[in-house]
Amino acid sequence: MAHIVGGITTSHVPAIGRAIARELQQDPYWKPFFDGFAPVHTWLEQARPDVVVVFYNDHGLNFFLDKMPTFAVGAAPSYVNADEGWGIPQVPAFPGEQHLSWHLINQLIDAEFDLTTCQEMLVDHAFTLPMALLWPDQNWPVKVVPVCFNTVQFPLPSAKRCWALGEAIGQAVRTWQTDDGREPRVLFLGTGGLSHQLDGERAGFINKAFDLQFMNSLIEDPKWATQFSVHQLVEKTGTQGVELLMWLATRAALGEQVRRIHQNYHIPISNTASGLMVMEPVQG
Ligand code: DHB
Ligand code: FE
Repeated sequence: MAHIVGGITTSHVPAIGRAIARELQQDPYWKPFFDGFAPVHTWLEQARPDVVVVFYNDHGLNFFLDKMPTFAVGAAPSYVNADEGWGIPQVPAFPGEQHLSWHLINQLIDAEFDLTTCQEMLVDHAFTLPMALLWPDQNWPVKVVPVCFNTVQFPLPSAKRCWALGEAIGQAVRTWQTDDGREPRVLFLGTGGLSHQLDGERAGFINKAFDLQFMNSLIEDPKWATQFSVHQLVEKTGTQGVELLMWLATRAALGEQVRRIHQNYHIPISNTASGLMVMEPVQG
């Protein structure tokens, strides 16, 4: 059976790609952000995941507004970056863990989640940049399964539904058996948030008090955010702050109880309050 080593949640701002390309990690603007990842690298060395299930949202790259699945699971042999450009070097392709993809798809459809399955799938900054933050040499030591949430075009899935999906994915991963009897080590990576709004009258909106309460709730009272409707979450966190739905699904996948291994919070990165957490499941 597979073993869940933990969950990492992080923001995913495109400007991070430019900062990596220009090696600005020690620049005063970027240092508080990149420094947050040093303890993550140490933790990854002992966690040694083989597979990463990535909860993220596509921003109009693979799915445009004409075709927008609520939840989509990748089942491709590999995933290529296709992002906004800016002349930033492309990261190497991500090898897919197709056996787990199909296990998840079968289990989730069985559990009455109506998914879109993608045997071809391009991934954008919400996928590639968190991976590059975890493994800065970009020599990916893991295989991946992308799980894409619609947080872009209304109507969006509720916090309650995203929790339920994350929980079902956690259960499905725990029952995953490989043909060769290995016990693969699985990491969940949830990207997006925290509070930010890129458009309209409230562009630049940030809500530090809510973000900190939300991060704490993932440890103390993990379903806390499911009390809010999507519109309430937009009100509290901004139109793009609602990307915290992927954090919620990550937490749900980890099971009953978790311990907080690491946390960082820094304002701003571009227009975003950037957050980072590492959580480990507490067995028993
Ligand atoms: C920004 C943040 C995002 O989450 C995103 O997808 C694009 C841009 C920003 O703050 O610039
Ligand atoms: Fe985003």
